[in-house]
Amino acid sequence: MGRRLLGGVAAILIGLAAAPAVAADLALMPWPKAVTNATGVLPVDDGLRIVWSGRRDARLERAAARFQQALAQRTGQPSTGRGATLEIVVDAADPKALTTNAREDYRLTVSAQGVRLQAAGPTGVLRGLATLRQLVQPGEQGFELPLVTIDDAPRFAWRGLLIDPARHFVHVETLKRQIDAMEATKLNVLHLHLSNNEGFRVESRRLPRLTELASHGEFYTQDQIRDLVAYAADRGVRIVPEFNAPGHTGAILTAYPELSAGPVDPTNRIGLMSLAMDPTKPETFTFLETLLSEMTELFPDAYVHIGGDEVNAAAWTGNPSIRAYMAQRGHADAASLQREFTERVRGIVQRLGKTPVAWEEVAESPVSDDVVVQAWRSSEALAHITAQGNAAIATAGYYLDLLWPGLDHYGRDPADPLATAPDRPENALGPKPAGPLSAKQASRLLGAEAALWAEVVSDEMVDGRLWPRSALLAERFWSPAEVRDPDDASRRVVIVQEGLRIDGVQDAQQRRRMAARLAPADAEAVEVLASATGPVRNFGRLWAVFDAVRNGRRPQAPKLNSLADVAAPDSLEAHRLATSVARFVGGDRGEAAALKAQLSLYRDNHARFVRAAEGAPALREAIPISADLAALAQAGLEAMDFVERGRRPPAGWKAETGLLLKRQADAAAASSSIPLVVGGAEQPPANLLIIVTPAIARLVAAAGA
Ligand code: ACM
Repeated sequence: MGRRLLGGVAAILIGLAAAPAVAADLALMPWPKAVTNATGVLPVDDGLRIVWSGRRDARLERAAARFQQALAQRTGQPSTGRGATLEIVVDAADPKALTTNAREDYRLTVSAQGVRLQAAGPTGVLRGLATLRQLVQPGEQGFELPLVTIDDAPRFAWRGLLIDPARHFVHVETLKRQIDAMEATKLNVLHLHLSNNEGFRVESRRLPRLTELASHGEFYTQDQIRDLVAYAADRGVRIVPEFNAPGHTGAILTAYPELSAGPVDPTNRIGLMSLAMDPTKPETFTFLETLLSEMTELFPDAYVHIGGDEVNAAAWTGNPSIRAYMAQRGHADAASLQREFTERVRGIVQRLGKTPVAWEEVAESPVSDDVVVQAWRSSEALAHITAQGNAAIATAGYYLDLLWPGLDHYGRDPADPLATAPDRPENALGPKPAGPLSAKQASRLLGAEAALWAEVVSDEMVDGRLWPRSALLAERFWSPAEVRDPDDASRRVVIVQEGLRIDGVQDAQQRRRMAARLAPADAEAVEVLASATGPVRNFGRLWAVFDAVRNGRRPQAPKLNSLADVAAPDSLEAHRLATSVARFVGGDRGEAAALKAQLSLYRDNHARFVRAAEGAPALREAIPISADLAALAQAGLEAMDFVERGRRPPAGWKAETGLLLKRQADAAAASSSIPLVVGGAEQPPANLLIIVTPAIARLVAAAGA
């Protein structure tokens, strides 16, 4: 015990003695367009004194106050007023602020004399202040900023995050925390999915049955929405609301069953999922016009999302009067009828002075070119959408609810039509694109969105499911495409996420609280296992639900209190391990001691976890995973030993380690696609994957195994 503690102290001392920061070492995310650094630092222990040149308004002053608070939180001391100056130079008001043409570019200069932040408009100031926060670092003489010049501008105008309070309600305070983190990472669109089968989440005064019958008492009041929109606007974040139709309308149709294409049974959760609005009834469009006019008064953004995904064709073709309407109008299939529906809703949105956004299904037949189409089933769809002349948003490959590690999403470029293939051949929007988007097609790509659908995300899990993975995606959406080194991203994201925690992101508190609930006597044993594991992917967490449906049983909603809900697809511990391993296999032994300490912690946690699980039945099923983690950690330690001694591992070790790694690969493969999971592929114990496996496999490979 004593020896390991001393090792930790030694590692800290070595860290302190490290060379001063150079550009490559800065922990910025998103990485700026251009960074030029000089030698030296500007101390900020006394804070910074803001001096305004050019424009100044109430919103900018609130941004400055937020920055001062964030700076004080990062240094742990209030500003004394004696600090260096932070001169903010805003050239002009930006009439395009809070649109897709907002001026977000800025130049930030930190010199020995002070900081200068110059921007063409107020939004650029917000982006520059976000960068400045991330530049604060502990140094020899206290907290400091490295001397640096940064010229920055986003690659894409639309850098979104979809949150789904329809499936599991998300409280306003939780949403505000995510908006804070969006500002800190320069994301600028919060897409709120406000209506689905499970609920309708905004107070409606013109359609009061929505609130009375479709919200289960969980909804945002109109005052809360106005407050939230203003809160986001202050942070340079637009809110785009989604009111999905004609499918995904189980909640709306519970309140207004007369608009349904088929019978509505509000007690049948699965049945609600296959409903659709009746596209032949004038009342359907009167309803949508009333709804959208009320909602677009609340949400001032120029865009409104009208849904349009996954319409159950049978909901229409199974209704004789809809079939007759289709025959009369010459609609050969449901897609053709949906085209008529989309055009009518588009007309409503247009009359309200807004631009519609819709899911990619609306582009299955040509859709008016003022509809922005969001590609979610494949990146390939982008080629077809933009070739048809529509603007596009890339979301395929960025579904955070599918629970892939952040670096998997990070590796997919929004403008690459081959980045993410459709899960099922029938989900292709057209033939596979032959190559990259043309310049004309690429000019129609507005940007990209990360999506966190909430089938298996409760309010207390939101921070941990979004961060740090959204920080990695914020970089993918903002930074030049060439910024894509996964090792460097792993290194930076640890520091960036610690900063987000200082700002208020609660992933760590949430994990601790959920772990303590499962094992109050030794929450730490649960946390250590959770830090090295993640949940199965692609709705593998819902395996029991799919199993019930396959076997004709009524499924139970999953209780989101298991270890698979505590563990995240990314943990800072896993990123740190990956960073240390990358350095070790690259020949840098500086972190070998820390790496061994972390592997030893995982190995030694097993006995402790088994003891914790004795009194906690919910943890018992994870014991085999804990055992495998211990074995992997031991293999990693042995691999390091082989490398350090320059010895080849014996054949028996290689075979045994190979089997252990193969078991992890097989477990990961079982949830590697939605069709596989829905089809019944058996999931690993406790629905857990060991997320440090790739790092350990890298050590094993370095040992020559
Ligand atoms: C979607 O995920 N159905 C847009």
